[in-house]
Amino acid sequence: MKVLLIGSGGREHALAWKLAQSPRVREIVAAPGNAGIAELARLVAPTQEPGSLIDLARSEAPDLTVIGPEVPLVAGLADDLEREGFRVFGPSAQAARLEGSKAHSKEFMLRHGIPTAQHRSFDSSGPALEYLHRRGAPVVVKDSGLAAGKGVTVASSVTEAAAAVEAIFAAGSATVVIEDLLVGQEISYLVFTDGHHYRPMPIAQDYKQVEEGDRGAMTGGMGAVAPVTLLDERTSQVVARDIVERTLAGLRSDGVDYRGVLYFGLMLTDEGPKLLEYNVRLGDPETQVVLPLLGSDLVDVMDAVIDRRLGELEPSWTDLAAACVVMAAPGYPGIYRQGIPLRLFAPSERLMVFHAGTARDSGNLVSSGGRVLNIVAVAEDVRSAVDAAYAGVRRIDFPGAQFRRDIGSR
Ligand code: GLY
Repeated sequence: MKVLLIGSGGREHALAWKLAQSPRVREIVAAPGNAGIAELARLVAPTQEPGSLIDLARSEAPDLTVIGPEVPLVAGLADDLEREGFRVFGPSAQAARLEGSKAHSKEFMLRHGIPTAQHRSFDSSGPALEYLHRRGAPVVVKDSGLAAGKGVTVASSVTEAAAAVEAIFAAGSATVVIEDLLVGQEISYLVFTDGHHYRPMPIAQDYKQVEEGDRGAMTGGMGAVAPVTLLDERTSQVVARDIVERTLAGLRSDGVDYRGVLYFGLMLTDEGPKLLEYNVRLGDPETQVVLPLLGSDLVDVMDAVIDRRLGELEPSWTDLAAACVVMAAPGYPGIYRQGIPLRLFAPSERLMVFHAGTARDSGNLVSSGGRVLNIVAVAEDVRSAVDAAYAGVRRIDFPGAQFRRDIGSR
């Protein structure tokens, strides 16, 4: 079959890598892809024009389209493609509101009894600031809309929280969510779901801040490990019953058809697990550590999701572990340099380099984004995988690269 893969990050390179292992996949076309994906797929460049991806699908006639990022999902690309008769892996725009609007997702959680932090949503800064002054800090301020993982401020003072509120509205966002700070270990709990059945992936943990010790600015993610073994039997049952199953039942009772990956960002607090947020797609960089552990053919799993047959399929997972260290351009997540020459090593079965912001310049590999490379190792346990990933980092020639040295330390 021919697969059309939408996206250009490390997540999409990991998807292309896993899809290419399927004996059912004859060709992958990636839009727009990156220099790493180009080794597995033919790249095509959609324009910014509305409908460009639909035109592309019409001309390529893929048997399966896989949508990686949230932006096209929230914009309704899955609906548009399905209307044209294409098979699509990724939820509808109505379902994707769980990520596209945090105000909506918080209201959904409350209405369906899903444990989460107390919150209030505001459409203008006056009432938001008044609430902040009454409520005090610490507090979490979130842009309700999509912000590439960078729209969350954990504020330790009212002044810092007020500045975050002002910045979100000044950037043109319509709604701010202010919520209580939850304390504990954060985990990424991802499931494949056809809306009725779900199959959890190995639990992952990502490292969102730019500096070691979880300090500094929020990024798209600086590394990840899987599996993490922070859930005891009882907590696993609470997550399954009170968070995952209530979510799927809530979606069904709201008349929302959810098929794809649903990502639960969870905080394991002293009062039990609480849901921080939903994402309606695979995580980045979680995908880079989860897909290498999948034993099953990813196309079989995606087919079962699309055809609502997930109840008949139990994906197999290896009992290995994986670690990912992200190498970013100097300056990221602020203003960063591009065009830095890169020299990589030849990947092996257990040590991969998934590209994010890379391109070819006169045939030479160069950086073209903030997060540039994901060095991913698979090993018997997380500690060994982390050590192997860092050994891989040391073999990369990437002048000025910044990366965290404490991935896996939690
Ligand atoms: N790693 C967080 C995310 O994908 O949103």
